[in-house]
Amino acid sequence: MIVLGVGDVIGRPGRDALRAVLPALKSERGIDVVIVNAENSAGGLGTTPETAADLFDLGADVLTGGNHTWKHREFGGYLDTHERALRPLNYPEAPGRGAGLYKTRDGRPFAVINLIGRTFMEATENPFRAVERAVAELAAKTRVIIVDMHAEASSEKRAMGWHLDGRVSVVWGTHTHVPTADEEILPGGTAYLGDIGMTGPYASVIGLDPQHAVKKFVISRPTAYKIAEGNVQVRAILVDIDDVTGKARSIERLTLRP
Ligand SMILES: [Fe+2]
Repeated sequence: MIVLGVGDVIGRPGRDALRAVLPALKSERGIDVVIVNAENSAGGLGTTPETAADLFDLGADVLTGGNHTWKHREFGGYLDTHERALRPLNYPEAPGRGAGLYKTRDGRPFAVINLIGRTFMEATENPFRAVERAVAELAAKTRVIIVDMHAEASSEKRAMGWHLDGRVSVVWGTHTHVPTADEEILPGGTAYLGDIGMTGPYASVIGLDPQHAVKKFVISRPTAYKIAEGNVQVRAILVDIDDVTGKARSIERLTLRP
């Protein structure tokens, strides 16, 4: 099974870039499943029912979320009624779900788990423990399990990779908007990448217009923010997974310009 993971899509520039490159990429690389981190798809912060629908329309099969998932209150209701839109599993008593079992168009099962880290982030349930329950449940139904670990600290993401090595197909990181070059297949067969990077404008400070973003640091106070526009790139990861064993055969970082 060929799985494409797309890093944090930033507002309209990110959505438009993904729309521009995805059809050709899907056919050229024989992609079976497209998983998109959607937590910044609405104006650079949060997800709305409209931006989620747009991402599904342009070719996403499953959406994952993160700390900004809760920015727009109406999205909670959307999560409750759309099983292909996930939020991190380890939020206590949250709307929606943090893991799902799905099928490819030709009927092959796969599962997706969305987690959020706790280092330099808000306090949530322990993702290392929460994921145990989800993996135990899903492993009985499919060998192909994909984990989006939305987290700040490289160490916490890497620890999750080793924690799940041999039990899931891939652990990739999202959230920092900065791509890392640490892709590998761990000894037990789990593919790992620390952070996919964002799908959005790279002439920016993690997606935001530098003028606004720099000022915040200069004056040590919050400032208005604006999405940047220049050098839009799609950052993604392509993982080839053996359907029978659930182990990864290869992992490849992709950079695409619309
Ligand atoms: Fe985030």
